[in-house]
Amino acid sequence: MHAPGETVNGATNKEWRGMKPPKGRHWRSEPKVLEQLEKEDLIEWSANGVPRRKIYVDERNGKKKQDIWEYKDAQYPTYPTEKNIEMIKSIILTSSNENDLVLDCFCGSGTTLQAAQQLGRRWIGIDQSNEAIKATQKRLSEMEQDLFSVNARYQFLQSV
Ligand SMILES: C[S@@+](CC[C@H](N)C(=O)[O-])C[C@H]1O[C@@H](n2cnc3c(N)ncnc32)[C@H](O)[C@@H]1O
Repeated sequence: MHAPGETVNGATNKEWRGMKPPKGRHWRSEPKVLEQLEKEDLIEWSANGVPRRKIYVDERNGKKKQDIWEYKDAQYPTYPTEKNIEMIKSIILTSSNENDLVLDCFCGSGTTLQAAQQLGRRWIGIDQSNEAIKATQKRLSEMEQDLFSVNARYQFLQSV
């Protein structure tokens, strides 16, 4: 219920329910707002009397993506530098919308193309290595929907 920094002249440094914010901190809201939260049963009191704001799951969208991501390498790689598909999906989700076109011009084993397909994006894959193209073809043809039977075949052949 409180945050760093002391309010010198303001309501967020005032007493609320017989309590001042701890030294060097201020109430996140002024006491009348805190009181309203309490009335709405939105404050939880710890065993030693510390108030905490209740936040329900549907009130927040979750934690923002942080700068450092931890993903394990693909567990059974089909290509030496294959990336973790969950990491690729995260990049696609945060940087494109459905039906957008995803281009991976160093597609390796086609992880990005698979992720893009699964997320409803269109895609183009390119790689200079025959091994990469083979690995990509294998990966995509093993997907539930055989991509080489429809439009993807055309896009893909252009890159071979
Ligand atoms: C790090 S790998 C990509 C791995 C891929 N993200 C995966 O999950 O499988 C980089 C790829 O770039 C390809 N590559 C490097 N230089 C290239 C170039 N000039 N044109 C096309 N492909 C290239 C390599 O053959 C290699 O397959």
